[in-house]
Amino acid sequence: MYYSQEVIDEVLRGSDIVDIVSSYVHLQKRGANYQGLCPFHNEKTPSFNVSPSRQIFKCFGCGVGGNALTFLMKYDNLSFQEALQQLADRAGVKLPEEDRSEQSKKRQEEREQLLAVNKEAATYYYRLLRSPRGKKGMEYLTGRNLSPQTMQKFGLGYADGRNNDLVRMLKEKGFSDEVILKAGVAAFDEKRGMHDKFWNRVIFPIQDTGSRVIGFGGRVMGDGKPKYLNSPETPVFDKSRNLYGLNMARRTKKPYFILCEGYMDVIAMHQAGFTEAVASLGTAFTQQQALLIRRYVKNVLLAYDSDGAGVQAALRNIKIIRGTGLNGRVIDLRPYKDPDEFIKALGSEEFEKRIEHAENGFFYEIRQLEAGYRMDDPAQRTDFSHEIARRLCEFTDEIERNNYLREMARKYFIEEESLKRAVASYGRAGAGTPEGLTAPPSRLERPARERGDRKEKKTPAAASDLRSQRLLLTWLVDDPGLFSQIREYFSPEDFEEGIYRQAASALWQRLEAGKDPEGSMTAASLIGIFETPEDQEEAASLFSERIEGDPNPVKTLTEIMTSVKRGTVSRLQKVNEKDDAVIRQMFEEKKKQQKLSGVTVHLSKPSGQ
Ligand code: UTP
Ligand code: MN
Repeated sequence: MYYSQEVIDEVLRGSDIVDIVSSYVHLQKRGANYQGLCPFHNEKTPSFNVSPSRQIFKCFGCGVGGNALTFLMKYDNLSFQEALQQLADRAGVKLPEEDRSEQSKKRQEEREQLLAVNKEAATYYYRLLRSPRGKKGMEYLTGRNLSPQTMQKFGLGYADGRNNDLVRMLKEKGFSDEVILKAGVAAFDEKRGMHDKFWNRVIFPIQDTGSRVIGFGGRVMGDGKPKYLNSPETPVFDKSRNLYGLNMARRTKKPYFILCEGYMDVIAMHQAGFTEAVASLGTAFTQQQALLIRRYVKNVLLAYDSDGAGVQAALRNIKIIRGTGLNGRVIDLRPYKDPDEFIKALGSEEFEKRIEHAENGFFYEIRQLEAGYRMDDPAQRTDFSHEIARRLCEFTDEIERNNYLREMARKYFIEEESLKRAVASYGRAGAGTPEGLTAPPSRLERPARERGDRKEKKTPAAASDLRSQRLLLTWLVDDPGLFSQIREYFSPEDFEEGIYRQAASALWQRLEAGKDPEGSMTAASLIGIFETPEDQEEAASLFSERIEGDPNPVKTLTEIMTSVKRGTVSRLQKVNEKDDAVIRQMFEEKKKQQKLSGVTVHLSKPSGQ
């Protein structure tokens, strides 16, 4: 973490999560909470909850959750540092310089250094292209129909045959070998020592949305291999969370982006006036990139290569696009291979027409599917119709599903009523769970040990035990007055090892210290002790478990507490080699369990808040 917990808490205290989330998501009041359509997955009925009393959000559809800080990080793709700064500005809190830990300062300094190296390198390549030494590169790019303005707009550059100039220049400027290597503009081997990574290539700098250079792609001028050499991922270059051309495309007035496969496609498109074109970065298109796009537009037109690989990629990405709630369509570039060639051959007016005729993503999928069946064979036709029915189940919204269903029936001569029945039967069988969700809801119910990144645990708790633990934690957060009444019965040890126990320990510490008398910041602040988004998400679910409209909360709480304790006892019973201490503890816990059933707690708040 970059800042002390106190500073983070102060910023959180000065912010209101409802206020922050509602500047991005339309929220409606439901009881004590607010609800809206989850901005992180595709849904038609709201399962995204914001709790003003706990200052956290939680989506019961896809599982995302967190506090105001994590919301901004997720929604705006900000680093922790950036999100905190933004919140602090909003709240009028000044972030103290000296509060930053040594480690965080180092990380921040490293990022700055890496960006500085990239900037120097970009300038170096840029100048070289426009110098006499850049003649070969300039000829290549001009030969590909790029105007000087376009080359300038994209900051195109050139790396020539002298393979140590950049490294030497960067060293002269005072950058360490370590930083130069880490930035990915140089490589090291025994024979050559430190040497420039890009050599005899035209250079495409890759910029983030703030137009800072974060990496490079270098293309051979001709048919060499590899065609493109790319910077490796670095702390400033996350290939799955950036898009080529986005720094410009984000300013488009159009309601859609055009997603291309390659750097050259994007450049050719922009030159032809389609400044809404973007591409992924030499890697497959990701869900994060779809979410990134969704911040700016609601529609994506795919302009992928018309060859087999292009079709496969389009089919894959249409699903990702739909999964994030974007509307996807596919542009037909035939008989040309890619947007670059198409524009070169037919110009932008013709391309504009292809945009108008872009095919609905689902229709495109089904049309590609159709090619695999012989439609004059009734058996294959039947299979085809069933496959359509199966895929229609992906639409969770009934109106939308029916619209597609009707159209499919009409288009492929299937009797509408039988198609409807087939869809209903597959729907019941659980086919077609929406793809592209950040996480299936069931993940929340899975014990921590199933998550790959967790330490192996001997005796994982059952899903129902975990739910009781979450209920108890949420209850304590909502009604801190409860703590003094139950502390003789419980300790953090009663909670599942991992996130649960860490959160419980932190909560115990706070409650014991009588810290944070407002209480309302507790959940939001506890989420902040976890570093990764996955952990924060799970932590958020620990403080979002309530039973709504419970007529007898006192009785319910007693049951919850008994159930948590029963879990502790049975966990101890399962320990294989019991020493005296374990046995003694087991009896202690059993005693507590018995006592608990007779305890009547006094609640200061009604349930369901
Ligand atoms: P393409 O081969 O379609 O390249 O790869 P392109 O961008 O259209 O370039 P030209 O027109 O052939 O010059 C599409 C994208 O895949 C990545 C690059 O991001 C490229 O833009 N790629 C391709 C690589 O990273 N490495 C490669 O060797 C090839
Ligand atoms: Mn291409």
